[in-house]
Amino acid sequence: MKESQGGGLHGRSDLIDPFGRAITYIRVSVTDRCDFRCVYCMAEDMTFLPRRELLSLEELDRLCSAFIEMGTRKIRITGGEPLVRRDIMGLFRSLSQHLEAGTLHEMTLTTNGSQLARFADELASCGVRRINVSLDTLDPGRFKAITRRGDLDRVLSGIDAAQRAGLSVKINVVALKGVNEDEFESMVRWAHARSMGITFIEVMPLGEIETARVDQHLPLTKVRARLARHFSLLETDYRTGGPARYVRVGESAGLIGFITPLTHNFCEACNRVRVTCTGRLYMCLGHEVAADLRTPLRASEGNDLLNAAVRDAITRKPKGHDFVIDRTERKPAVPRHMSVTGG
Ligand SMILES: C[S@@+](CC[C@H](N)C(=O)[O-])C[C@H]1O[C@@H](n2cnc3c(N)ncnc32)[C@H](O)[C@@H]1O
Ligand code: SF4
Repeated sequence: MKESQGGGLHGRSDLIDPFGRAITYIRVSVTDRCDFRCVYCMAEDMTFLPRRELLSLEELDRLCSAFIEMGTRKIRITGGEPLVRRDIMGLFRSLSQHLEAGTLHEMTLTTNGSQLARFADELASCGVRRINVSLDTLDPGRFKAITRRGDLDRVLSGIDAAQRAGLSVKINVVALKGVNEDEFESMVRWAHARSMGITFIEVMPLGEIETARVDQHLPLTKVRARLARHFSLLETDYRTGGPARYVRVGESAGLIGFITPLTHNFCEACNRVRVTCTGRLYMCLGHEVAADLRTPLRASEGNDLLNAAVRDAITRKPKGHDFVIDRTERKPAVPRHMSVTGG
């Protein structure tokens, strides 16, 4: 599927930013909690938010529905791990009404896969068609080391269940220097043999964690050059309005995506905003520009205040991001964890 710049996923939106970009895609984090503690994402000993800070499922439903009314056509549910939030299927079920009505075109999910075996059928019955599963290695020991507490077999069974349920699965791999770089070729073969796309993500400087980012950072130019020794990588004009660039592998016809926020600017076609699990609207993953939507949500039952806050916020969407790994301070450029903003 190809999206046009500014016009967003499928044309019209009420939400047009100062640079003419139509905001048609929201990513919503439904929890900051997770059953894993991936080394690049979370500290071993995380303190999670008190529950009262989180939007309730009803508030999340209201918020998403308001965005849909203002022109959002695609919603990605993320986290933390979205499938560990209690009764999360209620939100999917409720939002599926917008899919049936045709006002929402796509509802997707980013997940670590640990709960997929349980929820795959229900997700499919709620109208979810495509999901992203994050998986950085196919080696059980490494998987345990990266996620600190995950079980690879469980995730693989989850992927099986998702494919059996008819969901199209894309694998997201964070490229980690000295950790999983020797597996990229085999992971591409594995994914494509199962008709799954695969996307490599560069580590982003978000959130304070123990390991210094510069030690993990592996430029995707190197990943791509290495893959090019094993596969013919054909340029495509396939775009999703986001930071990924895709190539097609001649031998398998499968896609490989590269998300390189640190080395490339991808902002000119940006059609998305993010909402955290506490109802903060972030206009850009790499900026602190944000708006509080929880207060207007809780201030009244009607949506006038909420809609006004969203419209006002969109006028402040920055032109582009500003990621830097500070090599002297070793501090993240943006102090938020990805698990708070949602990936
Ligand atoms: C924050 S997770 C949330 C959804 C779900 N728990 C998962 O892992 O897919 C979303 C994505 O962000 C990625 N991610 C987390 N921290 C990152 C970082 N510092 N740099 C790059 N990607 C990161 C994860 O690998 C995952 O693909
Ligand atoms: S990347 Fe996803 S699975 Fe890993 S700790 Fe972060 S939220 Fe959890």
